[in-house]
Amino acid sequence: MNDSTEERVGIFEEVKEFPDPSAARRFAGLVGLDEKKERLLKEARLLLDPDSLTHWSEQFYHKKTKIIKLFEDRPPLFIFAGDVGTGKTALAETFGDAVARETGLSMTLYALSLNARGKGAVGEMTSLLSMAFTEVRQAASRASGRGGKRTSGIVLLVDEADALAQSRELAQMHHEDRAGVNALIRGVDDLATGNLPAIIVMCTNRLEALDPAIRRRAAATFIFERPNEDQRRAVVKPVLEELGFTSHQIESIVTATGACQGRSYGYTYSDLTQRFLPGLFLAAYPARKASYDLAKKVIEEHPPTPPFQEASSD
Ligand SMILES: Nc1ncnc2c1ncn2[C@@H]1O[C@H](COP(=O)(O)OP(=O)(O)O)[C@@H](O)[C@H]1O
Ligand SMILES: [Mg+2]
Repeated sequence: MNDSTEERVGIFEEVKEFPDPSAARRFAGLVGLDEKKERLLKEARLLLDPDSLTHWSEQFYHKKTKIIKLFEDRPPLFIFAGDVGTGKTALAETFGDAVARETGLSMTLYALSLNARGKGAVGEMTSLLSMAFTEVRQAASRASGRGGKRTSGIVLLVDEADALAQSRELAQMHHEDRAGVNALIRGVDDLATGNLPAIIVMCTNRLEALDPAIRRRAAATFIFERPNEDQRRAVVKPVLEELGFTSHQIESIVTATGACQGRSYGYTYSDLTQRFLPGLFLAAYPARKASYDLAKKVIEEHPPTPPFQEASSD
């Protein structure tokens, strides 16, 4: 970590350089997100390497086509929306590594969480956002290099963006309420017009609570969902198989972690990776092997997290 990296950490939760092996492992381990991963990488490539757009146009049409211009003008904003524990943060934090590997550019992640940092005062969140965008804009200007050829790119993650909406609701459309949203919109627009090698990802558990002006700007919105049966199997099977569970037992665990017993929802990914599997291990450790009976007990003791909407409706 050099001096300038340390400075940057002041505003951000995390500043991370890619490629990075642990990010690559996390990215590869994300189940059920293949389509999103592919689309995101393609979009990122287009944003970070606008020359490739021109090449395509020249190659197939021998001129710069209108469709290219359309693409170039899009704000570099992606919204990740959906239930808690479905991989929004995990994907946002790690796809920069895949981009780095694919493009050969070095990538830097600047991660900001509005929940952890900007809680409460709208003013605080507003200045945090403004500072973050200023910082990213400067870094992106440096990264865009001279003479066109880019050497690096930036991912700005604005996580837990619900906080912005929540504080607006609390402020009851108080005049201050739009300040945070405006700071965000200004930041996004500045990055868009600057033609800079930066991508913004905003994560939210409540898409409908995001300001329409922000939603409208998104180049794409990805909706994240709880794992279906196949996806739950993909998460638990390799772990349980190794522990000696039979395929029959694994199947009944896959079923028991789905929507059943009158529940309309099943386990989230994080319910499986951060509650069920660690719970199973702790139940077995240190005295015995992990068994099917223990697994059943852990499932009974750890029902799935209720969907965000239901949990927060009042
Ligand atoms: N698609 C997925 N495949 C495998 N594990 C996942 C997936 N999504 C989430 N997880 C697990 O759950 C944890 C929390 O996910 P996270 O990305 O923080 O959820 P969100 O930001 O959507 O609330 C991850 O660190 C990972 O262990
Ligand atoms: Mg998250």
